[in-house]
Amino acid sequence: MDALFAPEYEELRSVVSSLAEKQIAPHAADVDQNSRYPIEAAKALQDAGLAAAHVPVEYGGQGADALATVIIIEEVARFCAASSLIPAVNKLGSVPVLLAGNSAQKQKYLTALAKGQGFSYCLSESEAGSDAAAMKTKAVKDGSDWVLSGSKKWISNAGISDFYTVLASTDSSKGAKGISAFIVEKSDSGISFGAPEKKMGFKGSPTREVYFDQVRLPADRLLGTEGAGFSLAMQTLDHTRITIAAQAVGIAQGAFEIAKKYAHERKQFGKEIFDFQAVQFMLANMAMQIAAARQLTYAAAVKSERAEADLTFYSAACKCFATDVAMNVTTDAVQVLGGYGYVNDYPVERMMRDAKLTQIYEGTNQIQRLVMARNLETL
Ligand code: CAA
Repeated sequence: MDALFAPEYEELRSVVSSLAEKQIAPHAADVDQNSRYPIEAAKALQDAGLAAAHVPVEYGGQGADALATVIIIEEVARFCAASSLIPAVNKLGSVPVLLAGNSAQKQKYLTALAKGQGFSYCLSESEAGSDAAAMKTKAVKDGSDWVLSGSKKWISNAGISDFYTVLASTDSSKGAKGISAFIVEKSDSGISFGAPEKKMGFKGSPTREVYFDQVRLPADRLLGTEGAGFSLAMQTLDHTRITIAAQAVGIAQGAFEIAKKYAHERKQFGKEIFDFQAVQFMLANMAMQIAAARQLTYAAAVKSERAEADLTFYSAACKCFATDVAMNVTTDAVQVLGGYGYVNDYPVERMMRDAKLTQIYEGTNQIQRLVMARNLETL
């Protein structure tokens, strides 16, 4: 855990925080209110090498380790959660390539990702959410090609990303063991996108269905081995649920900072509301929960880097814990601001709406508890 205290992580935090405050925060309310893609954030992150910093240096990336990637996502989420999905989704889409891609796939797709082409992840379907292995999208072999048909739902940054890791059944008689992973390109014939979902929060990040109408994929689009896709999808989530925890820590930290400042500015009964113990205890609880969530998230990131045996537990635990903390903290932040918290004069109501999604995506917090329970023996 020495890495937690290495000065370069704090230097990175300071660089990202300053970039996010200057170039991302000023657009966050507009992005939310107009449900528009955060183009300013996308450009700022790409220009600074932070949109997919996890890509290894040999492919033109920054080679950011899991902890550095967490810090990047956390600092962006402090100001704009939707923008923090840019690095998070790019990591989610491309971890399968890092884990299972051959050298030609890594060279092609990771290099393009480092240059700014986005990468999404297509696992969920309308009838296969928590029960991901129940997917109906299928890929059928035709000569050396595969022909992909079906649809995926709730796909973050769909339509924006150039590449998609798609899980599909290649042998429905084998259930989870008959699922394989493919790389699909936006330019492939037969891929199309649904209308953006009208969401409660994360309005700047487009969420769409992705349709595959007989998409013909050459053999070199298969990622890893046939039938190993579900395990690859789960391994991927082990590494990336930590980024959702990071997002949650950032959202909570942003809301806490606003509530603390407001508590000192707002006067009632002749004194700062901070001077009332009822408010002080709320702020103390927020700070305590955030500190615990942050440490658990960083511990999981270090385990991700070292691929430790208890990573699955820690990844689920930090995602579950930090996102519940984000929900509690943002709800209390709205409470501290009272009526001002409930209107969009301040960002805390947006942060509360954003926090809610973190308890749902990349596996609901009920599924995280199931994953933890199944991995208790690794502790
Ligand atoms: N690593 C490697 N292999 C794993 C694994 C892991 N962490 N977890 C499971 N597997 C393997 C198992 O070993 C098993 O193989 P064997 O039979 O050879 O042992 C196989 O996968 C099937 O595993 P299970 O029997 O545990 O599968 P299950 O059907 O019971 O489902 C589940 C497990 C945990 C519930 C899984 O379906 C799940 O995680 N569901 C939630 C899906 C999810 O998180 N979706 C998020 C979508 S992405 C998203 O939301 C992104 C976004 O927008 C930003």
